[in-house]
Amino acid sequence: MTSPLTEQDLAARYLAMGGLARELGELAMRWFADQASLNTQTKGAQDFVTEADRAVEALFRERIAAAFPGDSVLGEEMGGDGSDRLWIIDPIDGTANFARGDRIWCVSLGFVANGRPELGVIHAPALDETYLARRGGGATLNGKPIRAAQTRDITQAVVEFGWSTRLPTKLYLDGVARLYELGAHVKRAGSGALALTQVAAGRSDGYAELHINAWDVAAALLIAQEAGARTNDFFSGDWLASGNPVLATAPYLWDVILEASGIPDLLRKAN
Ligand code: IPD
Repeated sequence: MTSPLTEQDLAARYLAMGGLARELGELAMRWFADQASLNTQTKGAQDFVTEADRAVEALFRERIAAAFPGDSVLGEEMGGDGSDRLWIIDPIDGTANFARGDRIWCVSLGFVANGRPELGVIHAPALDETYLARRGGGATLNGKPIRAAQTRDITQAVVEFGWSTRLPTKLYLDGVARLYELGAHVKRAGSGALALTQVAAGRSDGYAELHINAWDVAAALLIAQEAGARTNDFFSGDWLASGNPVLATAPYLWDVILEASGIPDLLRKAN
């Protein structure tokens, strides 16, 4: 049994998190610079893993075991279970980009206490960008506060729609078509975590994906919330083991993007 988490416990983790993300980012960058060494393998259609993903997650596990031995880790590559002090890592989100030399990828670290996200860092070393958030403390990009966009008109909006191989492609294409018909500019850059930070930074007005896993969004959703974006209740039901749909939008565009995404319909059918 672990003792209840105090403010000091959280502060210690917050302080450690930025440095840890940078260390992991440096390791990932060494692999990124040497594409021939990646030994890219597939876990399924359009689902890649490289030596770098494994090495970054292994180093993180080593560092957490040494600094916070009572904490648990859940990671994309090595799994893990829930606990009341849980780190969630995606060692490289955007692996498909990473493995092709595209700079849109990041290291994602989230800390969840008693099922509630408390801390998040997204570090994108190839873009030289670090997003940080602490619950109730706002969100920053490279140390400067960020805010979600105040866009009100969908015909002026940029919306990213993530594609998951875990659901029928038609559901995705229908959502994309609805967004275009409304007049939005739709894009997909290949990293769910970074896409959420773009909403947080006001560079895009929404990110939707019909199914995504906890490690892709545990850190970035907190960053989006803390920047004033509206987000769905991803952390509900069996989110940790099975994932959920995800949505984050500029506050005034919530209703229109939610409906266009097809998420309400999907949830109605599932219940
Ligand atoms: C993937 C990316 C992608 C999203 C997928 C994720 P990975 O994560 O975030 O943008 O559409 O659902 O699985 O495999 O690059 O860590």
